[in-house]
Amino acid sequence: MRILLIGDIVGKPGRHICTRAIRGLRAKENLDLVVANAENAAGGSGLTPEIYHELLEAGVDGITLGDHAFRRREIFPILQSERRIVRAANYPAAAPGHDFCILRARQQTPVAVFTLLGRVFMPPIDCPFQAADRVLAALPADIRVILVDFHAEATSDKQLMGRHLDGRVSAVLGTHTHVATADEQILPGGTAFQCDVGMTGPHDSIIGRRIDRVLETTRTFRPTHFEVATGDPRLHGTIVDVNPQTGRATAIRRLVVDQAEADRIAVKYHPQTV
Ligand SMILES: [Fe+2]
Ligand SMILES: [Fe+2]
Repeated sequence: MRILLIGDIVGKPGRHICTRAIRGLRAKENLDLVVANAENAAGGSGLTPEIYHELLEAGVDGITLGDHAFRRREIFPILQSERRIVRAANYPAAAPGHDFCILRARQQTPVAVFTLLGRVFMPPIDCPFQAADRVLAALPADIRVILVDFHAEATSDKQLMGRHLDGRVSAVLGTHTHVATADEQILPGGTAFQCDVGMTGPHDSIIGRRIDRVLETTRTFRPTHFEVATGDPRLHGTIVDVNPQTGRATAIRRLVVDQAEADRIAVKYHPQTV
């Protein structure tokens, strides 16, 4: 089976290219399951119920979040009631939302999905390694395919999580830095790994924000509003092939879709959306 994880969707440009491309991509790439990190989908920070439903209606099967998960309070009821969205599993137990979800891929294959937050260069939080062990112990015994979104800053931290979970999950894919890394690989135990799948949003930017604003504040320390940029929207994600019987990954590759490609895919594979 084939799973796509879409990297951090940033603001309207990220949502637009994602919803434009997704149905066509499902057909073109023969995808069985699509998961998207939507921690920056609402104006660059957080997620609203409207955007949650918009992404699901566009063809996303499940949603992961990150350090901006709780930026918009109106998402709390969705985090509690819906089972196709997860916040990081290493928040304290009292935090809104669920540690993991079980999605149904094509052919109804169950796929467990969870997110962890890193602790290097990030706010303090519970240990992601122990949280991963706890979630794995809690999963139903029949689950073979497991996708982990490790939302972390440091590449070393991400490599450590990959090795910690190697052979126990199908994929450990990184998010949060908004820059795709060229280290996609299958680890010795059969876990697909990549430090960061990249950003779905405006690439003519500083990780999604207006260059002039970020430069101004960085050079002068004058606060500015870091508006979401608009130029060169691209969808970045990673596709992993998994043997559904063993849960082991057999292939991993990066995916980049720019606006022209998104338009071509939509016209060719899903003309109803055009
Ligand atoms: Fe992000
Ligand atoms: Fe983040």
